[in-house]
Amino acid sequence: MSDSDTRSPSSPDVPRFLASDNTSGICPEAMDYLVRANQSDDLAYGNDRWTAQASDRFRELFETDCEVFFVFNGTAANSLALASTCQSYHSVICHQLAHIETDECGGPEFFSNGSKLLTVAGEHGRVTPESIATTVTRRGDIHYPRPKAVSLTQATELGTTYGVDDLHAIRDVADEHGLRIHMDGARFANACAGLDAAPADLTWRAGVDVLCFSGTKNGLGFGEAVIFFDRKLAEDFDYRCKQAGQLASKMRYLAAPWLGLLETGAWLRNAQHANAMARRLAQGIEAIDGVELMFPVQANSVFLEIAPDLQQQLRDSRWTFYTFIGEGGARFVCSWNTTPELIDDLIADLARVASEAAAR
Ligand SMILES: Cc1ncc(COP(=O)(O)O)c(C=O)c1O
Repeated sequence: MSDSDTRSPSSPDVPRFLASDNTSGICPEAMDYLVRANQSDDLAYGNDRWTAQASDRFRELFETDCEVFFVFNGTAANSLALASTCQSYHSVICHQLAHIETDECGGPEFFSNGSKLLTVAGEHGRVTPESIATTVTRRGDIHYPRPKAVSLTQATELGTTYGVDDLHAIRDVADEHGLRIHMDGARFANACAGLDAAPADLTWRAGVDVLCFSGTKNGLGFGEAVIFFDRKLAEDFDYRCKQAGQLASKMRYLAAPWLGLLETGAWLRNAQHANAMARRLAQGIEAIDGVELMFPVQANSVFLEIAPDLQQQLRDSRWTFYTFIGEGGARFVCSWNTTPELIDDLIADLARVASEAAAR
């Protein structure tokens, strides 16, 4: 083991991780089930009991007979799910800040053989029914890639959520124009926790056809579930996964940690904890002049407007955060294992650098 493996989190050379929920480790429940799955051999390519049980647990959680597939990461989940909603000459309406537009290296277009993303603006990262209607009705001629799907990110890239009413309003306009609804649920658990809503109410009961539910950001080491509520869209999806290199031969190691999250309720506890840490940060900076909250905190992300020189001072104090995501500002994301002490330390450092700046 190298020295770096034994460093204490308070060591002066250890970064203080809040840039992304991808920096957190595997939660104990997921690790426990991963170890359990390793105690005996099982069938390959998803024919094992862990995959069957995890799929059944999703059906229970969503209170419906959905089709469930396990893939390695979010880009694959989104790209392949979208490809199943569209033909190559179709288009997908999404927010201009959507991960599928800004951070998936053209994966959705590639895997759908060219379906175009049509981006729309919208306050706080949300697609609105009006923007969908405008985009669909702007052109109806043969030269325009025909809109066929809407993609919503729940929680959004700016840490806000779509409430049940928002989703129903979007479904209404989608029905008028024959559009399918895909949900990028990179932070779906955080949205359920933030809205105190049942997974079914935020998906199929509100007209979502396919959900990409992230386990990675919810406490797994890797793995996303693609959940089809419209089962017709799932036709041949296993072949899509295989062709895209997303059919895990030892699928039980993707599925068993999911079962750990679902059977123990950790999926919701982890998200509730992460959201509570985000709220703690948002409340803690309220009284600090020179540090402003940019968007309502409805899940586990907090965007702060901080002057560039203060950002540098924070980095010098080992804080990690991203400034290239969303609409600028500094993004801090809390996870299942973010501690109140870490958040309080950040608040204290923010107060310190802001008051030093004011005194200069
Ligand atoms: C909104 C959103 N969607 C999807 C993803 C999945 O990305 P990846 O392909 O890195 O798992 C992320 C990860 O950061 C994300 O923030």
